[in-house]
Amino acid sequence: MTGVAVGFAFDIGFSSPDVKRLGMAATLHDIGKAHIPRCILDKGGQLDPSEEEIMRRHPVIGYELLKDISGISPEILDGVRHHHEYLDGLGYPDGLTAPQISDLVRLLTISDIFAALIESRPYRPTMSRQNAYQILCGMDGKLERSLVKAFRNVALAA
Ligand SMILES: [Fe+2]
Ligand SMILES: [Fe+2]
Repeated sequence: MTGVAVGFAFDIGFSSPDVKRLGMAATLHDIGKAHIPRCILDKGGQLDPSEEEIMRRHPVIGYELLKDISGISPEILDGVRHHHEYLDGLGYPDGLTAPQISDLVRLLTISDIFAALIESRPYRPTMSRQNAYQILCGMDGKLERSLVKAFRNVALAA
């Protein structure tokens, strides 16, 4: 996921401090999963509603873990807490809407969804980069359309 995010940031011409922040946010974004039970993390397929509720705590857990550590910038905390937010307000944990979601977070979210789709998981076959990119394109309203377009280079490279 970090490689995807950093490649994307370079590709669209982020400044190097921003690329660094994004790389750091990408590395740390799911750190809250360290406190989610293994049986939920490793469960194949659909989580039941109570498991889903627990899983959805990971962004806030990550934020709480990192917020008092010096050297963790506000942009990184924002990325950790908000990488599952959507522009339409239907994401979590804070139900942010487009004006509250920074570019860094928008990039992080796109990279995260893509990386998760192409990752091999024991319970499902690997998805091709083309199919994963099509899914992003279908999430219009949730992800920034122009960024998804710009992501094409990175998504379909290699
Ligand atoms: Fe996450
Ligand atoms: Fe993730």
